[in-house]
Amino acid sequence: MSSIASTLAPEAIKKLIPYQSARRIGGAGRVWLNANELEHAVHYGESSQNFNRYPDFLPHDIARAYQDYCQVTSPVVAVRGADEAIDLLIRTFCQPGKDKIVVCSPTYAMYEFCADALAIETLHVPLVGDAFELDTQGVIAAAKQANLVFLCSPNNPTGNPLSQQAIIEILEGTQQDALVVVDEAYIEFEIDQSVAALIARYPNLVVIRTLSKAFGLAAVRCGFIIADESVMEYVAKLIPPYPMPDSSATIVLDALSEQGLHKMRTVTNQLIETRDWFISQLGQYDFIEKIYPSATNFVLLRTRAGETLFAYLLKQGIVTRNQSHDPALRDCVRITIGSQHSMQEVVAALNEYSSQS
Ligand SMILES: Cc1ncc(COP(=O)(O)O)c(C=O)c1O
Repeated sequence: MSSIASTLAPEAIKKLIPYQSARRIGGAGRVWLNANELEHAVHYGESSQNFNRYPDFLPHDIARAYQDYCQVTSPVVAVRGADEAIDLLIRTFCQPGKDKIVVCSPTYAMYEFCADALAIETLHVPLVGDAFELDTQGVIAAAKQANLVFLCSPNNPTGNPLSQQAIIEILEGTQQDALVVVDEAYIEFEIDQSVAALIARYPNLVVIRTLSKAFGLAAVRCGFIIADESVMEYVAKLIPPYPMPDSSATIVLDALSEQGLHKMRTVTNQLIETRDWFISQLGQYDFIEKIYPSATNFVLLRTRAGETLFAYLLKQGIVTRNQSHDPALRDCVRITIGSQHSMQEVVAALNEYSSQS
């Protein structure tokens, strides 16, 4: 029986023979003169590493370390951030000018942006109500016309995890129609909500992860795709020849070591404490109409006049995210949780604002 991935992959992608980079071809030898690299390293500044050779075409040691961290046996590939994963999945499974994706707004804007850039239509199935819940039947119906469904859990910018039961219903209802991509960029802040283990049961599930959030490695540019072999077969065709710079790979392996994971979990627990303290402080302001529950490193607020508060904080040098451009988030501001010290500064600014308004 053919997989849903092979049904969806465009003919052009199926025919594609991956670019045969020197590392992909591999081989054995003593004097390597096959990649037009400089044979001897040049050291600039402080860097003591050798960067003259191209890196591994698929960093297997990173993929293995990430599988261990996620406790999954499904294939994993490392890419340059979750944003590259989104773009890669759309380019692999959708044909410009023909295919469609589904997104559940309000959500992370890159799904639609990447689709727009490739002339791929985006179907919107809005999240429902004040708790921003999935419209499962709406998503299943829209998926009949689409190749990819993007779900963001926990969702940016609303902060809530999507119900695992609802995701399972969608996986069941779309098995013959679409791949369901669950973006778990913020999952470390509520790890129990991960659906990565379900890939073994649902080959139409793809999970995207990143080291940019809880791991604190946004500048390193490292994200992951976790998916069934039948999906990876096509993703691997389009993946850039050298997806991970050596300088990043070294840091990523340190982060995924036992000590690295311990550090990440300690920092995450501290951040959650700061977040919960900050949220408890927000309750005192009557200009804040709603504080949305957060399973992330940010909190979304609906205020009596979102844009005024945003502008006031900006004047105090505190940069937050104005969400008012989205009709579903009128008067909403998204505030990232920083250090305890920074959040105390925000509370002091809110006190000032409160006394003036
Ligand atoms: C939901 C979501 N997915 C993906 C990304 C991009 O992550 P990366 O830095 O790994 O490209 C972000 C960044 O804000 C995000 O909020």
